[in-house]
Amino acid sequence: MTILRDRIEGLKKEFGAAADRVEDSKALEDLKNKYLSRKRGLITGLFDELKSLAPDEKREAGKQLNEFKALVEERLKSYSDSGKLGLPVKPGARSKLTPPPGSAFDLTLPGRVRRAGAAHPLVLFQEKIEGIFLAMGFAVAEGPEIETDYYNFEALNFPPHHPARDSWDTLYIKDREDLLLRTHTSPVQVRVMEKKRPPIRIIIPGRVFRRETPDPTHLPMFYQVEGLVVDEGVTFAHLKGTLEFFIRALFGEKIRVRFRPSFFPFTEPSAEVDIECIVCAGKDKACRVCGGTGWKEILGSGMVDPQVFKNVNIDPEKYSGWAFGLGIDRTAMFAFGIPEMRFFYENDLRFTRQFDLK
Ligand code: DAH
Repeated sequence: MTILRDRIEGLKKEFGAAADRVEDSKALEDLKNKYLSRKRGLITGLFDELKSLAPDEKREAGKQLNEFKALVEERLKSYSDSGKLGLPVKPGARSKLTPPPGSAFDLTLPGRVRRAGAAHPLVLFQEKIEGIFLAMGFAVAEGPEIETDYYNFEALNFPPHHPARDSWDTLYIKDREDLLLRTHTSPVQVRVMEKKRPPIRIIIPGRVFRRETPDPTHLPMFYQVEGLVVDEGVTFAHLKGTLEFFIRALFGEKIRVRFRPSFFPFTEPSAEVDIECIVCAGKDKACRVCGGTGWKEILGSGMVDPQVFKNVNIDPEKYSGWAFGLGIDRTAMFAFGIPEMRFFYENDLRFTRQFDLK
């Protein structure tokens, strides 16, 4: 009787194909149960059938069945041993991550966490400022850090040797009296107006330089953002409304804002803008942030002086405008509650990692 032997042959093929398809530990378990389960396994059933065969046939088929069983066991064991399926079925078997003996790699060690990079706090703050003005229809412009005396001073209505120049402690380029490191972003106002006719609505972020001895609130290099609006019929009310809106967007709806008369050669009238001290709200006479005044100056502003318009061939009878310049570092220090400006430039990751404005 060859029928049993044919069936064993058939099952062998079937098992081989099924074993090839095994992809996870569940499928492996199922396959194992299907063939090897003591009670219901196919191989167990075949052994039962053997009993009713004639002795010769029994010997032949028995031999074949034993071989098949060994093959099934061997194949299933190879899966568990390799751990290929993430399954050491037997406890204590090698996991798929265990390195072969003598290997230089131990893949079971925890990985090294790589932290994603992040934008510098000053960049985050500048981008926040830009976002507020972009939403109001302003564009962003830039200008050179090495400037001429003309753009940094003269075109902005600082006559040569005028004492107002002393407030901007200027770093000059060696052997080049006419070249300097810009002391403010205001020269870019002139550069923009030379090229573009009104209406103009721009902000100008950038680095500026002054001859300063570093201390907690002064550095020889820092950031400003300039703003300029020129059009017909622009008034001080536009300046006030826009700057108040901007400050509220930056510091929150409730912040108190105050405009103080001031002087800049390139604006008339001029105003400095203070915001309420967010550290002490004016309650601490010894406050280290506002010095007990309850106010913190963040920007200078004013109506563009007619002489500046004349310097760029814009008719001051037809057009008017307003401008402002804000210290990004000082304002960011205030907003973040940072007591020391130098922290921004030391590249100490313990500091820079702490900021996330999003
Ligand atoms: N440039 C001035 C400074 O560096 C700030 C400033 C004041 C800019 C008034 C302006 C302005 O545009 O209108 O201190």
